[in-house]
Amino acid sequence: MQTSFKYRETVSNDHPALYEMWQATPGITIRNADTFEGFVSFLKRNPGLSFVVENQGQIVGGILGGHDGRFGSIHHLVVLPEFRKQGIGNHLVELSLARIESAGIEKVHIFINKDNPGGNKFWTNKGWVERVELTMASYTF
Ligand SMILES: CC(C)(COP(=O)(O)OP(=O)(O)OC[C@H]1O[C@@H](n2cnc3c(N)ncnc32)[C@H](O)[C@@H]1OP(=O)(O)O)[C@@H](O)C(=O)NCCC(=O)NCCS
Repeated sequence: MQTSFKYRETVSNDHPALYEMWQATPGITIRNADTFEGFVSFLKRNPGLSFVVENQGQIVGGILGGHDGRFGSIHHLVVLPEFRKQGIGNHLVELSLARIESAGIEKVHIFINKDNPGGNKFWTNKGWVERVELTMASYTF
């Protein structure tokens, strides 16, 4: 397969391709924040922290990065199955983390579904540590 990967910052127009990829990926939970409006709002709040990777003009992977001024967060890291295990996921993480760190953030969180063994393995292999001492609680409006 001919490959030439181009990494760039995510823009609003990437939404249809990314949304299709998220929907087709087990382990990725789609929520209201993933609509076009939610996506654009996230990018506006977190400029320059999200990236996509293209192969011959087609988006084959992406990552959403953000922070709230205290903690960084990574969401929806996905690489299309046929492009996995070539270091793309790792590079997307590096790009986003470098920008989050530049914003003065010292700790980054990722939420991984418990029933996503591949996703959990990816992060723990990279040295990310499960916070077993914490309870995660959320409030829904
Ligand atoms: C998790 C995910 C993004 C990883 O993407 P990826 O591009 O395959 O990631 P990488 O190639 O950087 O690393 C994946 C593995 O390939 C290995 N690898 C990296 N480059 C490689 C190469 N050139 N040759 C062979 N293996 C390689 C890595 O060591 C890593 O090994 P591991 O699975 O034992 O940890 C991808 O599997 C995915 O989209 N999964 C579904 C969505 C998901 O679960 N997302 C994470 C939860 S938010």
